[in-house]
Amino acid sequence: MALTPDLSQHTILITGAGRGLGRSMALRLAVCGATLGIVDVDAAACEAVSAEIVADGGQALALPADVADREALLAVAAQLAAHTGRIDVVINNAMLLRYEPLEAISAETLTRMTAIGINGTMWGAQALLRHYDPQRGGNIINMASPVANRGYPNTAAYSVVKGGIVTLTKVLAAELGPKGIRVNALSPGSVPTPGALGLNDPAEYERRSRTIPLRRLGHEDDNSAACLFLLSPEASFINGEILHVDGGIAAAG
Ligand SMILES: NC(=O)c1ccc[n+]([C@@H]2O[C@H](COP(=O)([O-])OP(=O)(O)OC[C@H]3O[C@@H](n4cnc5c(N)ncnc54)[C@H](O)[C@@H]3O)[C@@H](O)[C@H]2O)c1
Repeated sequence: MALTPDLSQHTILITGAGRGLGRSMALRLAVCGATLGIVDVDAAACEAVSAEIVADGGQALALPADVADREALLAVAAQLAAHTGRIDVVINNAMLLRYEPLEAISAETLTRMTAIGINGTMWGAQALLRHYDPQRGGNIINMASPVANRGYPNTAAYSVVKGGIVTLTKVLAAELGPKGIRVNALSPGSVPTPGALGLNDPAEYERRSRTIPLRRLGHEDDNSAACLFLLSPEASFINGEILHVDGGIAAAG
């Protein structure tokens, strides 16, 4: 039976929710009753996902914003909090997925990827801190990756950002735990989302699926199910965890 925690009292801000893993998590959370703030730099995608949730009987607000822009992200968070009274969960999912060999990485690319992944995650955490209810506690879920802990060639910019997000997750778990805020990360592996398909061609995915210990690629639903678990009461003592949802990629090394 699918895990369906009652999230009807939860307001959740989720970034990069216009497509891929973010969209999948948002749809699943909405089915559990949560009110979603759908943040994406792609305003049309943001509107489309929000409309999809509402058409399905759920509750969502389209909140177009660039997570790298602190004031913009805090402004849409304030808009969501004004609508529901508070924010219980922030899911820092937005990222620019790009693999390049070291010599091709430009200052602009590195700055942009860092600004989205590291700064954006930091601003998302600040948004939760501003708007959570200390009586109820809060939750932050960040998005890590197996690349954070291994040396995959041609992924320097992306991997170092994901490594930073892992460190940030642990720091914030320790720093915000006493305030009743749990901070964890999901670490999905090899899910052929629109963004990831820009990194690997189908042949590479085919090859990779044969090397994953569970012998299949990840699916968006695998990650969404783990997200639901982290937000469920069953996970109430889990803090600072990097939850691998990768069929064993990280374990196999
Ligand atoms: N797909 C995988 O295999 C995989 C594996 C490990 C980790 N991840 C992580 O999961 C997350 C989602 O990845 P995905 O595969 O769904 O990617 P995706 O590219 O399909 O979706 C990313 C979404 O983020 C949005 N976005 C990008 N920059 C933004 C910004 N500055 N502000 C707001 N929104 C922005 C995009 O418009 C897009 O809708 C990312 O953090 C990624 O690093 C994915």
